[in-house]
Amino acid sequence: MDAVSAHEYLLDNQAGESQDRFSALSALFDPVTFRHVDDLGIAPGWQCWEVGAGGPSVPEGLAARVTPGGRVLATDLETRWLFGGTDPRVEVATHDVVHDDPPEGGFDLVHARLVLLHVPAREEALRRMVSTLRPGGWLLVEDYDISLQPLICPDEVTPDQRLANTVKAEFRQLLLDRGADTQLGRRLPRMLREAGLTRVGADAYFPVAMPSVAVLERANVHQVREALIGRGNLRANDVDRYLELTSTAELDLATAPLVSAWGQCPPS
Ligand SMILES: C[S@@+](CC[C@H](N)C(=O)[O-])C[C@H]1O[C@@H](n2cnc3c(N)ncnc32)[C@H](O)[C@@H]1O
Repeated sequence: MDAVSAHEYLLDNQAGESQDRFSALSALFDPVTFRHVDDLGIAPGWQCWEVGAGGPSVPEGLAARVTPGGRVLATDLETRWLFGGTDPRVEVATHDVVHDDPPEGGFDLVHARLVLLHVPAREEALRRMVSTLRPGGWLLVEDYDISLQPLICPDEVTPDQRLANTVKAEFRQLLLDRGADTQLGRRLPRMLREAGLTRVGADAYFPVAMPSVAVLERANVHQVREALIGRGNLRANDVDRYLELTSTAELDLATAPLVSAWGQCPPS
């Protein structure tokens, strides 16, 4: 793994919490992702690159759609959660989207969900992803716009919900310290046009109160517990109380809006 990227990415996949994170992301956002993928016209024979795949659900869903005759390449800095080889339709490779050469091109679809947010050199990553599209191929990028809706509890009524929003604000600072872009979602359409894509469009979705958000939150906050306390604004008791609440209380936890933006490489 590239040392710079490992340092930049706050929630690195070495940690055991990753499996819960990927299951929760799948439950929350796979329906959104596949609605867009289907709208772009995915069909048997398509060649797809899933960038920063994390877990297996998106590559496997793509493989189900492009079989027979298609190809799905799933890459990540750390591929242990992709269960490489268990689905023969998915090719798995360790790859840093910023620092490694892009794979051989000609893709009909390149997709990245919640990856560019964490990558400080996101324009470069986008340029590399676009360079692998065939003429007429599609890029689909999905990322939060955290600043549009930063609260984990938009309906903050109780002290527990106030604590949840306080912990979330500290978590956001950790992301910012690592070079995350908390306004990326809104910028995506412009970034895709500036990268030379046409027929650019975007929409957004976010869960307002869904149980999988608690699973996601528990995995993320548990993984960075020490760093949260280390910032000096939260006591260990606060973080642990919040972790307990995510298992026991009905806090109505939301995420930031996930912006899905798509654009097409001009047909030659
Ligand atoms: C929040 S997870 C999202 C995983 C998956 N795309 C999803 O939506 O379920 C971010 C993923 O991006 C990967 N990642 C971060 N920086 C990367 C880079 N420079 N190159 C490739 N993958 C990267 C991480 O390892 C992690 O698996």
